[in-house]
Amino acid sequence: MPPPVIEAGPLTLRPFREDDIDWVCAVSQDPAVQANLPQVFAPYRREHAEFFVRQVALAGWGDGSRAEFLVAGADSGARLGRIGLGLRSQVPGTAEIGYWMDRSARGQGVATAAVRALCRWAFGALDLDLIEWHAEVGNLASRRVAEKSGFLIEGTLRRRLIHRGHRVDVWVGSLLRPDSPLQAGSPAAPESLPGPGSLAAPGSLAAPGSLPGPGSLPGPESS
Ligand SMILES: CC(C)(COP(=O)(O)OP(=O)(O)OC[C@H]1O[C@@H](n2cnc3c(N)ncnc32)[C@H](O)[C@@H]1OP(=O)(O)O)[C@@H](O)C(=O)NCCC(=O)NCCS
Repeated sequence: MPPPVIEAGPLTLRPFREDDIDWVCAVSQDPAVQANLPQVFAPYRREHAEFFVRQVALAGWGDGSRAEFLVAGADSGARLGRIGLGLRSQVPGTAEIGYWMDRSARGQGVATAAVRALCRWAFGALDLDLIEWHAEVGNLASRRVAEKSGFLIEGTLRRRLIHRGHRVDVWVGSLLRPDSPLQAGSPAAPESLPGPGSLAAPGSLAAPGSLPGPGSLPGPESS
C-alpha cells in the first residue's frame, strides 16, 4: 500500500522523509526515549536514524511489515513525534503500536490524539481487529495514553523483555476493533473508538526546528 497521509484535526500523520533523519537523531538522544525504548541505541548516532527512516519506516510500507508515521502539526508542519504499527504476518489482523513524542510536544494530548487517529485508520484501511500495546512497567505516561485511547490494560508479562542486558517486566494491553464480536463481555467494551479529539493546548504545539527526536530500530516491538 502506498503510505497515506492521515488528517486528524490539529495533527497530520504523514510518512517519513529523508529530511526527517536529523530530527529523528536529535529526539533519540532524549534520556526518556532511551530509558523507555530498548530498541533505541545508546549512544544513538546518525547512522541509526538513517537506518530507522530508510530501512524501518519507509521500507516497512514497501514490504508490508510496518505502518510508520511522523506526527506533525497540521498547520505548522512542525515535527511532533513518531507513531507506528508493527504488522504481524504470523497473526493476520493484529498489530503492535509504538510511539514517542518530541520532548517539547509532550503533555498536550498529542500522543493520545495520534493513537486514536492511527487506530481508527488501521481498523478500516488495514482491516485489523486487534491492536496490542506494550510498555515497560512504570512507564505511566505511555500507559495513560493507551488508557485514554480506549486500550484495556490486560496485565503484566514478567521478565518478558530484554532492555540493555536486563530482563524487565512489561505491561500489555489491547484495543479491539469497535465492531468486533469480541467486544461483547469485554470490560473495556467502548461503544466506539474515540475520535482524534482535540489537544490540550492546540495553540501551543512545538514550533518547527526547535526539537529533539528519537528513532527506533527493529527489535522487540515495544511502544
Ligand atoms: C509516552 C509519551 C509518548 C506521551 O506523549 P504525550 O504527548 O505527552 O501524551 P499525552 O499528552 O497524550 O498524554 C500523557 C498522559 O500521561 C500523563 N503522564 C505523563 N507523565 C506521567 C507520569 N510520570 N505519571 C503519570 N502520568 C503521567 C499525563 O498527565 C497525561 O495524562 P492526562 O491527560 O490524564 O493528564 C511521551 O511521554 C514520550 O514520548 N515518552 C518517551 C518515549 C516513550 O516512553 N514512549 C512509549 C514507550 S512504551
